[in-house]
Amino acid sequence: MTTFNTLRWRGGALDMLDQRALPERCVYLSFDSAQAVATGIRSMVVRGAPAIGCAAAYGVALEALRLRHEPQAAFDSGLERAFETLAQSRPTAVNLFWALARMRATLAAQHGTGAEHTAAALLAEAHAMLEEDIAINRRMGQHGSALLQDGARVLTHCNAGALATAGHGTALGVIRSAVEAGKKISVIADETRPFLQGARLTAWELQQDNIPVTLIADSAAGFLMSRGEVDAVIVGADRVAANGDVANKIGTYSVAVLARRHAIPFYVACPLSTIDLKIASGAGIPIEERAPEEVTGYREQRWAPAGVKARNPVFDVTPAELVSGLITERGVVLAPDREKIAGLFRG
Ligand code: MRU
Repeated sequence: MTTFNTLRWRGGALDMLDQRALPERCVYLSFDSAQAVATGIRSMVVRGAPAIGCAAAYGVALEALRLRHEPQAAFDSGLERAFETLAQSRPTAVNLFWALARMRATLAAQHGTGAEHTAAALLAEAHAMLEEDIAINRRMGQHGSALLQDGARVLTHCNAGALATAGHGTALGVIRSAVEAGKKISVIADETRPFLQGARLTAWELQQDNIPVTLIADSAAGFLMSRGEVDAVIVGADRVAANGDVANKIGTYSVAVLARRHAIPFYVACPLSTIDLKIASGAGIPIEERAPEEVTGYREQRWAPAGVKARNPVFDVTPAELVSGLITERGVVLAPDREKIAGLFRG
């Protein structure tokens, strides 16, 4: 059980733990409109695919609550703008679009019931998505923990923990569940340049739960693998294509190649809401590029020479052939391919 809430509903507004301030400060910011939530997503107050999806759902609900006393036409057009604004906040994590589609379906089902009633239904749906996300992560945790031996040393990249979800986490959820089942698991956390989700967030989150964690520079992963110091890799995902190709935080592909070179299993933990059957392969997944300033420095500090050209693609694609297994709420799919993934959705 984690000691913090990534997202929480308080006093008619959405509180989000400001992940930009971690690990130095644990502060919550309050959001009361779709525009504010979209800005929070873009600026990384909240990040991680499932957490972004839940935040966006609350963004729609907040907008409906804000506009519920307006005439119906203004309510409808305001909500339409909210959907558009939220959809433009970040491009890669498909959970954002999945959550917005679910909120659209709720909105459509409320047609003709009035703004007050519709707003209440949208808020109830956002609450349901938050609760479901935690339950799904727990199911993934149960399936995935069976893959880990007692004493396993597990390398992870980025933060796919409670901070990246409504709670428990995907990759870190598997580790948490294994620890809850009595296994001694230790984690090797890649620092995850350039935004340092591993150094700042994974290290902090695991410390909160007293799960042993050792931080390494991203470039140290291959060395540790070559010395036999890594038993398994588990990462999360932002979008999985229909053929099993996985988009995740930049650097994941390199870790997958290294894992294959050293015959170390490479697992991806993700809910079905992260699988995008509309995209045939990883080549079709939109990859976000963020500001070069995230590469040339961090926060107030700059280390690269002024004027240097820098690129900052923040996700990469790991081909399905490098994925040993997808850990989902419906079970583990070993050596995922198009057929096996389609089977997951048939139930
Ligand atoms: O840019 P971020 O921090 O939103 O990227 C997050 C990741 O890449 C995570 O690994 C992914 O969303 C899985 S979260 C359970």
